[in-house]
Amino acid sequence: MELILDTANLDAIRELDSLLNVTGVTTNPSIIAKSGMSPEEVIDGLVGCLRPDQKIFIQTVRTDFEGMMEEARYICGLRPENMYVKIPVTHNGLRAIKAAKEEGLGVLATAIYSADEAFLAAMNGADYLAPYVNRMSNYGDGVAMVTELIQMLAVQGLPAKVIAASFKNSWQVHELIRAGIQAVTAPPEVVYSMIGHPGTEIAVSEFTRDWDAAFGRKTLR
Ligand code: G3P
Repeated sequence: MELILDTANLDAIRELDSLLNVTGVTTNPSIIAKSGMSPEEVIDGLVGCLRPDQKIFIQTVRTDFEGMMEEARYICGLRPENMYVKIPVTHNGLRAIKAAKEEGLGVLATAIYSADEAFLAAMNGADYLAPYVNRMSNYGDGVAMVTELIQMLAVQGLPAKVIAASFKNSWQVHELIRAGIQAVTAPPEVVYSMIGHPGTEIAVSEFTRDWDAAFGRKTLR
């Protein structure tokens, strides 16, 4: 499974990348707008702090077909490899996904609210499909709908990877990992909530205390 960070926070990216095997980073216009940096600073920062084998996903801002295609070419040209354009699955977006794939660009279909939207974007050739798990939960069971999508793609033999997005808690991530999700993109706070269990810290304090009491030191040698 690919673990992607959904953030423009460069410090959090560096820190989590040192702790875990991070496959890449996704952003969207709202994330960049709230980052306190300009779009150029975010893009340069991401390109600068991720290795060439890590993936970067940047979303189009324009909503017309020509604009999406222009921005898609710009985004995918930012690095020689592992650059993906995120395109929302509007009518114009679906057209752009088809056209971008015909041009050989890496494409993530985003702002997905139903398994059917995702499935048809996969038929258009999208490499990744980003269903908004938590937002989908306004309309039913987001986790169940994404689980269904995973099954639909497998049954129909489509190669698109589901990159579940819009997480609000680690249970949603856990359940989708159990269901066989190919990738998740989660904000740093959700990833942090999956590690650093208080019980782990307590266990380590006990080890140190017992060792120190027995041997009068806190080191192995
Ligand atoms: O990548 C899509 C995701 O960022 C949307 O998340 O938290 O705005 O629902 P959220």
